[in-house]
Amino acid sequence: DKGPYEHFMLKEIYEQPLSIEDTFRGRISMDHSKIFLGGIIDVLPQITQANRIIILACGTSWHAGLVGEYLFEEFARIPVEVEYASEFRYRNPVINKDDVIIAISQSGETADTLAAIKMAKEQGATILGICNVAGSSIPRETHAGVYTHAGPEIGVASTKAFTSQVTVLTMMSMLLGKTRGFLSKEEYTHLVGELTQIPDKIRTILQADDEIKKISETYQHATNALYLGRGYLFPVALEGALKLKEISYIHAEGYPAAEMKHGPIALIDENMPVFVLATKDKSYEKIVSNIQEVKARNGKVIAIVTKGDEVIKKMADHVIEVPDCHEAVAPLLTVIPLQFISYHIAVMRGCNVDQPRNLAKSVTVE
Ligand code: F6R
Repeated sequence: DKGPYEHFMLKEIYEQPLSIEDTFRGRISMDHSKIFLGGIIDVLPQITQANRIIILACGTSWHAGLVGEYLFEEFARIPVEVEYASEFRYRNPVINKDDVIIAISQSGETADTLAAIKMAKEQGATILGICNVAGSSIPRETHAGVYTHAGPEIGVASTKAFTSQVTVLTMMSMLLGKTRGFLSKEEYTHLVGELTQIPDKIRTILQADDEIKKISETYQHATNALYLGRGYLFPVALEGALKLKEISYIHAEGYPAAEMKHGPIALIDENMPVFVLATKDKSYEKIVSNIQEVKARNGKVIAIVTKGDEVIKKMADHVIEVPDCHEAVAPLLTVIPLQFISYHIAVMRGCNVDQPRNLAKSVTVE
């Protein structure tokens, strides 16, 4: 049931404050001093001592995995590799018994991800799952795991599943960071507090829907688009580009902003919209220079900024504000405007938003 919404995708975008709260439910203590992930408690020693974590996924879930890489390395100091399941399974990867594999999948049925974990399991690794559909094939194949509890996702374009996956990865990385001694009690409690504020901050962004729709109108006839981000927001740039491609059929590319000068900058002219993730974090100054580089070539800049940013407002063609937050949880906020933009542009172009051509909700073929 779509309720008052025209499409499932829009409903699912709006559900995110609640779906993230469902992901938290029963897993965070009132005083923010404890994260409890019952599904992985039995394998916590293996994860805490892991030599490396390998994240396997496809599509949007792979983008969530990339956010996980930044989180695990920052907070838990465990080396992480993020692999397309389809590539991993068909090469001859080196897998050790003390590797921990995390499969991320909304449906839990993606053929490549399933085959990849079966292969890693045979070689003795510990296999975890971060899945949404309870009792699906991937969770049945894993040793342990954490369900995202985002509720059924009907729109083919993944939205709330992504934010719930990132929420689980954030909780896991903080828990491991504390267990491994890299996060002090104070840092940990502070970060958990930052995470629990996310649903309310998303509510604020949802109120900007009409304003984002107006901005989207300007770019509905674009044939190409670039998405740029750095650090935690690089995977969000990839995700923004994928969303635009799959539902509006506009060619879009996501890039780490610093890579622009190694090629994609050649594409920039007055017809190229460039979506820049530019919230206040440790690479802020650098992203500001990337915006200047785009403007110097007459590209159109749509920047996602921290509320109150006056510097970028003067340079960009459009800005969309998100509430201030710790940089590690910024993916959960900055992805929301990008979901809206793809949705509105797709509707304006008359595309079938919930059932885009050539795509299926779960890809059970290899
Ligand atoms: C993107 C999308 C796909 C899926 C991918 C993996 O919006 O829906 O890219 O993310 O097919 O699916 P799951 O997460 O079910 O393994």
